[in-house]
Amino acid sequence: MRIVVLGAPGAGKGTHCKRIAERYGVAHLSSGDILRRERAEGSELGHKAQSYMDAGSLVPDDLIVAMMVNAVAKAGPAGFVLDGFPRTVPQAEALDASLAAARSGIDVVVNLLVDDGVVLDRITGRRSCPKCGAVYHVRNMPPKMDELCDVDGTKLVQRPDDTEGVVKNRLETYYRQTEPVVDYYKARRTVHNIDANKDADSVAAVLFKKLDAFAGKGGKTASKADAAKRTKAK
Ligand code: AP5
Ligand code: MG
Repeated sequence: MRIVVLGAPGAGKGTHCKRIAERYGVAHLSSGDILRRERAEGSELGHKAQSYMDAGSLVPDDLIVAMMVNAVAKAGPAGFVLDGFPRTVPQAEALDASLAAARSGIDVVVNLLVDDGVVLDRITGRRSCPKCGAVYHVRNMPPKMDELCDVDGTKLVQRPDDTEGVVKNRLETYYRQTEPVVDYYKARRTVHNIDANKDADSVAAVLFKKLDAFAGKGGKTASKADAAKRTKAK
């Protein structure tokens, strides 16, 4: 399966993409995680991305598209789930063009909907493992041992862009540049809106029901169903 998960900062993209990757055996491709890895390694891309990320603005499209098209090309035959990409309409167009060139395409688009009021609490309470990327929340999803990762015992950290001021800019950036991506996909296929305000297990149950239905049908059938729907809409 080739899945795109859209949603505002703090909607739960990382949390649910990890679960999707485990359940369906697809590669979890998070643009934010890849950029943070590049920064930690001190690469040229990491240096270029740093100031944008710290300010809560988007990294330029050309850098992101090259990085993510490369990640998609390396994903295994089971497919992938995209987390945080595409985030602008030109990124979505570039992704579609690159998949079409490989006679492929996106199978499922999921949009996690969350209220702005929920976002700040989720993001300021988030802690993550710098080693394996596991994500926790100080109250909603605390680790078993205070401040230590359940998976590898590493001390959890807070992301530098998880401050109140930067979150505000990330949300503004989302509404200005990323929400149009939802309309881009809506014009081309079904977008599955999911209420992501509920607790993570309830959100996952709804999400898996949709993805299980798709997985049961097989990719080709679902794409045809989408095509039929588009023809009907015309
Ligand atoms: P990125 O890392 O993608 O950040 P983001 O989009 O702001 O999203 P977050 O990671 O903050 O939220 P999430 O939806 O993953 O939520 P999570 O599951 O962690 O991007 C960072 C930066 O990189 C960008 O600002 C930009 O500069 C750059 N960048 C990345 N991609 C780019 C692109 N394509 N183009 C240009 N620039 C790009 O959950 C949040 C918290 O809530 C956690 O603590 C979690 O435990 C908790 N939680 C999750 N779900 C629930 C729930 N249902 N109930 C209760 N708590 C929950
Ligand atoms: Mg994330």
